Amino acid sequence: MTQPRLAFDDLLQHTAFVSRHIGPGAKDQQSMLEALGYASIDALIKDVIPAAILLDAPLPLTGSAALNEVETLDALRVIAARNKVFKTYIGMGYYNCHTPTVILRNLLENPGWYTAYTPYQPEISQGRLEALLNFQTMVSDLTGMEIANASLLDEATAAAEAMTFCQRVSKSKSTTFFVSQDCFPQTIAVVRTRAVPLNINVVVGDHRTALNVTNATNATNATNAIDYFGILLQYPNLGGEIHDYSATVASAHSKDALVVVAADLLALTLLTPPGEFGADVAIGSSQRFGVPLGYGGPHAAYFATRDAHKRQMPGRVVGVSIDSRGDQAYRLAMQTREQHIRREKATSNICTAQVLLANIASMYAVYHGPQGLKTIAQRIHRLAATFAAGLTKCNNEVLTAHFFDTITVRTVGHTQAIHAAARAQSVNLRIVASDTVGVSFDETTTAADVEALWRIFSNRGDPGLSFASIEANADERIPATLRRTSDFLTHPVFNSHHSETQMMRYLRSLADKDLALDRTMIPLGSCTMKLNASTEMIPITWKEFSQIHPFAPLEQAQGYQQLISELEQMLCVCTGYDAVSLQPNAGSQGEYAGMLAIRAYHQSRGEGQRDICLIPSSAHGTNPATAHMAGMKVVVVRCDDNGNVDVADLRAKAQQHAGDLAALMVTYPSTHGVFEGAIREICDIIHGHGGQVYIDGANMNAMVGLCAPGHFGGDVSHLNLHKTFCIPHGGGGPGVGPIGVKSHLAPFLPGHGLLETGIAPVAATPWGSANILPISWAYITLMGARGLRQASQMAILNANYIAHRLAPQYPILYAGKNGIVAHECIIDLRLLKDKTGVTVEDVAKRLIDFGFHAPTMSFPVAGTLMIEPTESESKQEIDRFCAAMIAIRHEIQAVEEGRMTADNSPLRRAPHTALDLTEEWDRAYTREQAVFPVLNLKTTNKYWPPVGRVDNVYGDRNLVCSCPPMSDYE
Ligand SMILES: Cc1ncc(COP(=O)(O)O)c(C=O)c1O
Repeated sequence: MTQPRLAFDDLLQHTAFVSRHIGPGAKDQQSMLEALGYASIDALIKDVIPAAILLDAPLPLTGSAALNEVETLDALRVIAARNKVFKTYIGMGYYNCHTPTVILRNLLENPGWYTAYTPYQPEISQGRLEALLNFQTMVSDLTGMEIANASLLDEATAAAEAMTFCQRVSKSKSTTFFVSQDCFPQTIAVVRTRAVPLNINVVVGDHRTALNVTNATNATNATNAIDYFGILLQYPNLGGEIHDYSATVASAHSKDALVVVAADLLALTLLTPPGEFGADVAIGSSQRFGVPLGYGGPHAAYFATRDAHKRQMPGRVVGVSIDSRGDQAYRLAMQTREQHIRREKATSNICTAQVLLANIASMYAVYHGPQGLKTIAQRIHRLAATFAAGLTKCNNEVLTAHFFDTITVRTVGHTQAIHAAARAQSVNLRIVASDTVGVSFDETTTAADVEALWRIFSNRGDPGLSFASIEANADERIPATLRRTSDFLTHPVFNSHHSETQMMRYLRSLADKDLALDRTMIPLGSCTMKLNASTEMIPITWKEFSQIHPFAPLEQAQGYQQLISELEQMLCVCTGYDAVSLQPNAGSQGEYAGMLAIRAYHQSRGEGQRDICLIPSSAHGTNPATAHMAGMKVVVVRCDDNGNVDVADLRAKAQQHAGDLAALMVTYPSTHGVFEGAIREICDIIHGHGGQVYIDGANMNAMVGLCAPGHFGGDVSHLNLHKTFCIPHGGGGPGVGPIGVKSHLAPFLPGHGLLETGIAPVAATPWGSANILPISWAYITLMGARGLRQASQMAILNANYIAHRLAPQYPILYAGKNGIVAHECIIDLRLLKDKTGVTVEDVAKRLIDFGFHAPTMSFPVAGTLMIEPTESESKQEIDRFCAAMIAIRHEIQAVEEGRMTADNSPLRRAPHTALDLTEEWDRAYTREQAVFPVLNLKTTNKYWPPVGRVDNVYGDRNLVCSCPPMSDYE
C-alpha cells in the first residue's frame, strides 16, 4: 500500500516533540479510553472538568504552533545572543566561578541527579542524602558552627529566616532587629519585606555606632544604644571591609540578642569563622562554589547555628541513622514535612529548596578539598591585594583597609569615565556612588585582568604597571587577628576525590544508589514528576545564560529580558491572569508573594484590617505557614466526605469574618485530586465578602489548555514551574514559583531595587532563578497551544486509567462525578491496615523492591497514597506500576488470610537489599519473592536498594547531622 504524499510542512515535523513528551501513543490512548468506557478524550474531559470552567478554544499563545527541538534551540540561540557576557567585578554576593567540568557533566547535566525528587524516601535517596550531608559538613566546618541545614533559597531569604529564628530563640522581649548598613542591599530589602507583616522593627545602621558597643575604639556613640533581639552583620561587608565583630557580639549577647553573620564561604577558608567569634547563626550563599551566576539563580543558601537551637532551624536537615540491619543510613531528620505537621506554627514555609545547587557546591568542596579551596581563596586575595597596591601606587585612594576579594576605591571626578572605560572593554564594575567604585575579584580573574583594570582606572593613559612586579611586594590585607588558624574539611570525603577519575566515580556511585526519573516512573501526587527533556535543559549552561551577573546593566541582558517577558506572557495566557512575576524562587515563595499582594491591595483601599485567611483542611502545609508569614490569621474550612470544600462551612466562615476577610487559599483541582464543581461559587462567596481568592497552582498540570484559574475566579495563583512547566526537581530544588495576578493586583507584584514597579521584593534578585527559565520557555514553545492541552488531557487519562486498574484492589478516595478523578488519584489503605496491620509505609517500601519510587505518602490524608503518573509516562510503565501494586495487594491478602504475619511479611521487611540475601533466611517467604516479586525483574536492570528500611526514631534520638567519622563505617 502506498502512503499518501505528505505536505512538505508535515515533513518538517514541527510538532514532533509533542509525542516525545507525551508517553502513551495513539493506540495506547485508545485502549485506555476503551478501558474507561469513553469514546474519545474529549468525552472523558467533559466528565472531569465542570462545564462552567472548561475552555472551548485553544490557548491564544503568540505563535501558538509548536516548534521542534532543533527549531526551539535555534530560537533560543538567537535570544541568548542578545545577552552580552561582560567580565564582572560587581560582587555583592555573586561571583563568577569555574564549575569543574567533571561536576558539570556528571552532576549538573546528568538526569540521574537533576530528575531526582526530594529525598523523603531515604532508602532510594542515599546518594543525594550523602551529597547533602557533605554540604552540611562543609558549611559547619567553614563557618565554625555546630550544625547546618541542607540549603535554603538564597542569601537574602536566609537572612530573613535568620531574623525570625532569632526572635523565636532570643530571650529578649524587644521587637527590633538590627541590620548593619553594610549588608548587601538585596538582603536588607528582603529582611525588611519579611519584617513588616510580623511587626518586627528593622533598624539599619552602622554597627559601630548604633549599637552600644563597649569596646573603647568602637564606642563612638554609646548613648545611641537601642534594644534589639538580633543583629545581622556582613563578613566581609558590602564594601569588602573585614571587621572584627567580637565586641559587637559580646554587646549583643549581654542584651540576650542573637548575632547573625552573613559570611562568604570562600573567604572563610582564610578568615576566622563566625562560630569562633561567637556568632549564633551564620548564613550566606554557596554560589561561588561552582554554581554559575545565571542572572541571579538558582543558587543554594546555607544556614548554620549552634546545636542547642537545631529544632528551631528553618529548612531541611539530613541526619545519620541506621537501617533494618543496624547499618548506617542517611535520612531527612526532624523538620521533614514540618509544615504539614505544624502548619502556621512551622519554622518557615520553605518546602522546595536548592538541593541540586547545594550538591554542586558540596562536590566543589569534595573535588578541590581544603587545600584546593584555600589556594583558590589565596589566589583571589593576592589578585585583590595586588590590584589595590597598584592603584595606590598611581595615587588612587583605596578605601578598604582590610579585605579578602573586594575593595572600594575613591574615584572622585573620574567615576563616570572609569565606568565608561570599563564598559567599552566589556567590563562591569560595581556602581557605588558618584565618587566611589567597587571591585570584586573571583576565581576566574587573571593577572592580565588586573593589568587591564589598572588601565581602566588610570585617567592618565596606561600607568605601565606590571602585575608581576607589584604582586611580588603586595602585602596580605587580611588582618592578622582574623586569619583562620583552625582546620576545616578534614573528613576523608573532602580529601579523597581530587583526581577526575575518582570524582567521576564518586558521582556515579552516589547517583547509582538513587532512583530518579531516568530509571523509573516517580508517581508522586501533587509533585508532578514529568519529563525534563534534554532540549529544555541544554541552554541553561550556555555562557550567554549562565555567566550574566544579576545586577548587570539591563542593556547587557536583552536576551534575558526578551525571554522573561515572553515567558510572562505565555504564563498569563496559560493561567488567564493579566500579569506575572517570575521573582519567587519556589512555590512557597510564590504563595508568600501572592499573599503580600493581597495584603497590599487591601491596604491600598483602606482595608488594612482584613487579615483572616480561610484555608480548607486539605491544604498543603505551606499554605497556612505562608498565610502566617504574611501577617494573616488562619481559619480552617472543613471538607465534605468527598474531599470537596464544604461550601456551607465556607459561607458561614466568610460571613462570620466578612469585615476582616482577607483571602481564601484553595488548591485547584483540589489536593484530593478532584475538580470541584462549586469552584465558581466558592470564589463568588469570597469576593462577596470582600476577600481575594488565592488559587494554589501546584496542580496546574491538570489545567493548562483546559481551564484557567484567572478565568474562573482566582485573583492570584502561584505556579510551580518545577512541576507543570518541566523544571527538574533536582532532588528537592531548584524550583520556580511565579505568581500570576488579575490586573487589580498587578501593582502589588514583588518589586526590586532594579525594577521600577512593584512592592517589596521576596527574593534577592529581580527574576529569581532566571537561569532556568529557558527550560519552561522551551517546553511551552516545543508543545504549542495544542500540545499543552493534549498534555493536560493525557495527565488526566493516565491517572484515570491507574484508578480504574487499581480500584478492584484498593478503594479510590474522593472520585468526582462518574467515579472519575483529575490528574492524580488517592488509594486508601486505612481499612486494610485495620484488618492486617500492613501500613502505607510498608507498601511504599515494598514498591522499592519492584524498582519504583513510592507515590506521595499520607498527604493530603494520612494512611493513603496519592498517585500522579503525569502525561509523560507510557501505558507500558503505568501497567508495570499497576502490576506491582496488584502483586502487593496479593501479599496483603496473604496477611489478611493468616498465611503470614505482617511482621514477617515481605511488606514489613521491605526493601530488601543484596546483603539481606546473604544471611540465614528464616522468613515466611522465599528469597526470590523478596527480590524478584514479579518475573520481569529478573530480566530487567533491577534496582538494589543500598540500605534496608531506615529507622527514623533512632535517627532523631541520636541526631548526627555531619559526616560521621570513617571509623563508623568499619
Ligand atoms: C499543593 C502545593 N502547594 C504548594 C507547594 C509548595 O511548593 P514548593 O515546594 O515549590 O515550595 C506544594 C509542593 O509540593 C504543593 O504540592
